[in-house]
Amino acid sequence: MNPAAGTPFARQSNLDMKTGEFIPPDDRRMVYQQANMLWHSDSSFKPVPSLCSLLSARIVPPEGGATEFASTRAAYPSLPEALKARVERAIAVHDFAWSRDQVRSGFFTDEERAVYPPVQHGRRALFLGAHASHVVGLPIDEGRALLKEILAHVTQPRFCYRCILHRATPFDSARHKRLLQRTTISGDPAELPA
Ligand SMILES: [Fe+2]
Repeated sequence: MNPAAGTPFARQSNLDMKTGEFIPPDDRRMVYQQANMLWHSDSSFKPVPSLCSLLSARIVPPEGGATEFASTRAAYPSLPEALKARVERAIAVHDFAWSRDQVRSGFFTDEERAVYPPVQHGRRALFLGAHASHVVGLPIDEGRALLKEILAHVTQPRFCYRCILHRATPFDSARHKRLLQRTTISGDPAELPA
């Protein structure tokens, strides 16, 4: 797999692809998908992050299971000055394994981790979310605390439904069916900073 490429269609669903029946809650596939309920930007763990994702909802539960969106661009001007000053110097490290570790520690094997080693993005932006593991030059805990503080600020309801970070909302996955089909379009490697 080319780590810089987009993805073929990926199903976000609690239904088994072959049988159409519910996937048991403790199944690895469901644990994997629980990370979709953390605020994130698709594929931010790749060297070339995604340009955009196309999401088509085919089956939706009667309650919960929505997709929320929050704009870090809209939220940035309202950051408290002290936080803004810390953000100025912070570079987040995005790591696919970290977003899954938050749901179940050690979820990915060493071989799986090696496919997507941690990456940094050079463009000036509040580019964070579930894949953002820590901050360059800060102790791991301190960097995570900073990322958590910024994330809490930028995902307040007043910044939602514009663009960028998103997450699924919980639903009763043992009772209600949910099936969404997603594809992600890779960004342009030529636009990476030198
Ligand atoms: Fe997503």
